[in-house]
Formats: sequence, C-alpha cells, structure tokens
Amino acid sequence: MSDISHFLDIHPHEPSVLREILRRSEVLKSQLKAGEVDRQMAGRTLVMIFEKPSTRTRVSFQVGFQQMGGMTVVMGDQESQLGRGETLADTARVLSRYADAIMIRTDDPQKLQDLADYATVPVINGLTDASHPCQIMADVMTYEEHRGPIAGRTVCWVGDGNNVTTSWIHAAVKLGFTLKIACPESLPPNPGVMAWAQENGGDIQIAETAQEAVSGCDLVITDTWVSMGDENPEMRRQVLLPYRVDGALMAQAATDALFMHCLPAHRGDEVTDEVLDGPQSVIWDEAENRLHAQKGILSWCLN
Ligand code: CP
Ligand code: NVA
Repeated sequence: MSDISHFLDIHPHEPSVLREILRRSEVLKSQLKAGEVDRQMAGRTLVMIFEKPSTRTRVSFQVGFQQMGGMTVVMGDQESQLGRGETLADTARVLSRYADAIMIRTDDPQKLQDLADYATVPVINGLTDASHPCQIMADVMTYEEHRGPIAGRTVCWVGDGNNVTTSWIHAAVKLGFTLKIACPESLPPNPGVMAWAQENGGDIQIAETAQEAVSGCDLVITDTWVSMGDENPEMRRQVLLPYRVDGALMAQAATDALFMHCLPAHRGDEVTDEVLDGPQSVIWDEAENRLHAQKGILSWCLN
C-alpha cells in the first residue's frame, strides 16, 4: 500500500482519520470566521480535473485552497489531452511533476484508481459514478454542528440508490450511525457496498417505503433522480415518484429532524420547495461546509 495520503473514499480510512479530518475542518472554519489567516498551502499547487460538470466542488476546492495560500489549476477533459486519449496513468505521472495534489471528478471509479496508482502526490475523489466522499464529510460536519455527534443517530436516505448513497453507507459504518434506505427495487444501493457494510457490522436497513424509512429518523436526505450520466430519465421519474420528499413525508421524521441534499436540487421532483426552503432544511450550511470540509481533507492529505 502506498504511503501517500490519498482521499479516494471514506471506507479505506480508520474512524480516527475521519475524525481528524473533521477536527481540522472545524478549526479551519472557525479561523476563517474569526478573520485569522492560515496559509498552510503557501507555495503549493492543486490541479483539478473535471470530466463532469460542477458548481460547488469546483468553486469550493478552488476558493478553499487559495484561502490557505495555495495556487489552483482547473482542467476540463475536453480542453486537455485527456479528451484526445492520453491515459490517466500518464496524466498522473506528468501532473505529479507540477502539482502537490490532484482532485478529479470523473465517471468510472477505475479512472480515479489509475490516477492514484500512478500519481506521486495525493489524489482526492471529487465524485465518480460510484461515490462522493467529500460531500458526505461536509454533510456529517453539518449534522454535528446542528445536532451534536452523529454516532448512534438514525439517518434516512430516500430516492435513487446512487453514488451519494454509497458514501453515506461508508460513513454509517465508519462513524457508527444507523442508515435506513428507501429506494425503488429497480434502483437499489450498490449490492457490493451493502455486502461490505454487513461484513463490517454496519446498521444499514432497507425499508419497504419512504414513510417507513423516514419514521422517527434524525436526518432525511435525498438526491437528484437523474445523476450525471444516467439514462432513461422518464423511467426514473416514474419509479421514483413515491420517494419525493414533501412536507407530509418530513412530518414522519423526528420533530427536530434535519433535511439535507447535496445539490443541485430539482425542485418539485425529488424534493418540494416547502422542504428545501423549510425550517428543517440545512442545505445552505451543507453547501458552505464543502469549503471547510475539503480544506480539512486537503490539510490532512498534504501534511
Ligand atoms: N454537490 C456537488 O458536488 O455539487 P456540484 O456538482 O455542483 O459540484
Ligand atoms: N448523484 C449526483 C450528485 C451530484 C453532486 C450525480 O452524480 O450527478
């Protein structure tokens, strides 16, 4: 195993590492709020590769690294040689000669792994079709800021069993909370990830209905019904309709339950305005915490 501190997913890390990253994230956030400058990335460069669109990941990584004194380079696949077939392995070897860390958003998780296998600097997963670990670090940070430790709590996922669901499953196992999942039978969470969770003693429950999953839970989460790269949007909309998070569904959760969504939201599809803009929603804090959580991840990877 390489001794480079990559952040490719949540599950390869010990809980103590995840806790250390969250601790750093909180410290960096309070320093920023207090107007203190921490330039721990001075003289360092982060290269970011985007093979899919992004608003939050792109801006929060760029702003975060620059706040810590570093320089950033953003590269899309179509304007680089990746779009003409240069391999990620070769790209990794070249970028490692210029940069101190590489973040990538791509489709196939194997591409992330190739990059990490050939890079000599830390690689960070900014989303693949398989997982979205930076998002869930920010989400856990957000939950804990509002409600205290997530360990022992019950979190509920309603909707498509997608890449974000996978990172929530990883987090539930590593950080010790219950995760109830309600997905259509045709769009379940990744079976390999479910098997891993079971082998590792996770409390991951599959509910028959959205109502059953939400009942009494502390946090309700959903995501778009059509992720980047998904096909058959109309088929998805039809099978996912019973999983829309509206006021009536939210009312089944604990009275002090929170609502989260990684965004972008498709208002009126997976979630109604009433919930997104309602008193239980912490979506803007969640989006803000991408900045702080990723600074914590970068700080852990590079120190
Ligand atoms: N949540 C998230 O990753 O947003 P972007 O796709 O805008 O980066
Ligand atoms: N599941 C979504 C998350 C977007 C941040 C997607 O992959 O498109």
